[in-house]
Amino acid sequence: SIPVENVQSLASKNLIEIPPRYLRGEYESEELLDDEALEIPVIDMHKFAVGPSEYKSELEKLHLACKDWGFFQMINHGALEEIEKMKAVTEEFFKLPLEEKMVSAQLPHSIEGYGQAFVHSDDQKLDWADMLFLLPRPSSNKNTEIWPKAPPSFRPALEEYSEKMHELSIKLLRLMAENLKVEPESLVSKFDPDGGQGVRMNYYPPCTEANKVLGLTPHSDSIGLTLLIQVNDVEGLQIRKSRKWLPIKPIAGAIVVNIGDILEVFSNGEYSSIEHRAVVNNVKERLSIAAFHSPHIDTDIAPLPELVQDNSPKYKTIRHIDFIRLVLGSHLDGKSILDYLKL
Ligand code: SIN
Ligand code: FE2
Repeated sequence: SIPVENVQSLASKNLIEIPPRYLRGEYESEELLDDEALEIPVIDMHKFAVGPSEYKSELEKLHLACKDWGFFQMINHGALEEIEKMKAVTEEFFKLPLEEKMVSAQLPHSIEGYGQAFVHSDDQKLDWADMLFLLPRPSSNKNTEIWPKAPPSFRPALEEYSEKMHELSIKLLRLMAENLKVEPESLVSKFDPDGGQGVRMNYYPPCTEANKVLGLTPHSDSIGLTLLIQVNDVEGLQIRKSRKWLPIKPIAGAIVVNIGDILEVFSNGEYSSIEHRAVVNNVKERLSIAAFHSPHIDTDIAPLPELVQDNSPKYKTIRHIDFIRLVLGSHLDGKSILDYLKL
């Protein structure tokens, strides 16, 4: 990975001209899907505890959300307290002076720490964002050496948040297994107890030329399941829908959930991992926190056997470690990992 400039300090210089490496003319002609009425589904977790008919109808809604959208917002999830604490420490962390944040800086050849997303070449376009990426799970991967020491409540807040997001991801996977008509354990045991979890805190400074840069390049998530919060109610997440970009309006307290590439493969294509991106605001900073959930490292990435009995597999089988190498390396030649795996 090639180190690049800190974007928060770059933004604070109030440059008249944005450096060319951040200018994204290639996306300028792409349209927004400007339909006020069109929104991703909202799944109310409380409904699963009310009674059999509410359970059934919410379960159906969840199935359609995973199939047709790949994205939904989750409410009444019971994690508000953990989210509030996590938001507070994240905001405090990014407010620290640069030298203090650099105590948690990415080490060479590591994806963990404070820095920027992967840069493979000197002419690659750059994202208008800094991030802090940490790996709380499994515990064997947890490297608290690099976790911020300031604010002091950072560590307990992330630990509680990590636990709660893991629990919620397992709850969702159980419901998805029910919808996919597979034994819950055949899906859940890949993620629990010792699946992987990465937490990525994104900081998008305001940009005077906000419509010419991108906070996060279009991508699909190369993991199982993502749980994301838009911290300060500043809009920025957009998803691919009908070849256009649909903005996801923040709902206070909601968690945005999306199907990642690995879950698309496990479901043999029944669920979709959808391309998305983040745009930035011209006056307001924006923060988001994504918790990525992956299967255990020894798990093969392949369609669940129950789902290929009548259908043929739509994806190649690949070892998880090789999947990760492909995603992190530069050998996909611009193709997505899903294109590479599709049969
Ligand atoms: C992401 O795709 O991981 C983050 C998107 C966002 O900041 O909303
Ligand atoms: Fe993402």
